Amino acid sequence: MSETYKFDLGTMFRLDGRKALVVGGHGGIGAGIAEALAAYGADVSIASRNMEKLLEAKEKIKEKTGKDVTVYTVDASDEESIKALYDTIIADKGYIDVLVNSQGYNVKHHLTELPKEIMDGMLQVNVVGIAMLCKYFGKQMKERGYGKIINVSSTRGARACLGGNASYCTTKGALDMLTRTAACDLGPEVCVNAIGPTNTVTPMMEDLIKEHPEILHLGDDKPLQRIGTVEDCMGPAVFLASHASDFMTGQIVYADGGMTAIG
Ligand SMILES: NC(=O)c1ccc[n+]([C@@H]2O[C@H](COP(=O)([O-])OP(=O)(O)OC[C@H]3O[C@@H](n4cnc5c(N)ncnc54)[C@H](OP(=O)(O)O)[C@@H]3O)[C@@H](O)[C@H]2O)c1
Repeated sequence: MSETYKFDLGTMFRLDGRKALVVGGHGGIGAGIAEALAAYGADVSIASRNMEKLLEAKEKIKEKTGKDVTVYTVDASDEESIKALYDTIIADKGYIDVLVNSQGYNVKHHLTELPKEIMDGMLQVNVVGIAMLCKYFGKQMKERGYGKIINVSSTRGARACLGGNASYCTTKGALDMLTRTAACDLGPEVCVNAIGPTNTVTPMMEDLIKEHPEILHLGDDKPLQRIGTVEDCMGPAVFLASHASDFMTGQIVYADGGMTAIG
């Protein structure tokens, strides 16, 4: 049996010639993903609100990969700011064909004490802003005929937990469904998938771990017997950004050491 493939098996994970934007790109998981995409050949831009931290991440990525990333500020809870980012990037780069949404946060409140403005704020960043980024960049990718969107969700989109996480889990459940519906609206040109990490040691978790060091042991009873590291999201991001995942869309890929496999 002779078969020809669309791409070379030896280079199907390479991202040379790709233009990637990682929103939340100086955060723990975002910076790791930006570094991995750059290491695999992509021209990477990173964006968030804090320029100083973006510049620090740019330096680190340069040290590790030798690649220059471009930095942009954006408030991903504000559609006008997202549109301004879109216009600037299109003027600078021409197009984006890999969009990673790694922005997000969690403020814990028991449901009986949950201030509405806290939940509204999390919904804006963790869900609505991501929908708006998919709207602008997804339209451009669809018109250009190719694109990959990767949303950083969480195991908490599929598994509830104790400890004041009602609003966070709700935003991640909504993000999972946004991922699936965006896959419907943006296909067949654009693939939209999500990565679902479990507890991962990043700046977002640092204060919580100081208060609750037992978090470091939350993976002990899971199949791979540890919690996550940033590195655990890097391979899945390269996979979902590359030709290797061209027939996958609307999926949540769990980087969770088997946590969701066992309930
Ligand atoms: N760490 C974990 O245990 C874990 C587990 C599962 C899922 N996740 C998810 O993974 C993603 C990344 O988390 P992380 O641990 O890497 O967190 P992190 O280190 O705190 O990074 C969060 C990033 O989001 C950006 N961000 C927050 N609000 C923003 C806004 N309004 N506009 C633009 N950017 C904004 C921050 O940048 P600025 O402050 O500069 O805006 C920062 O770069 C989040 O969606 C999180 O929910 C994390």
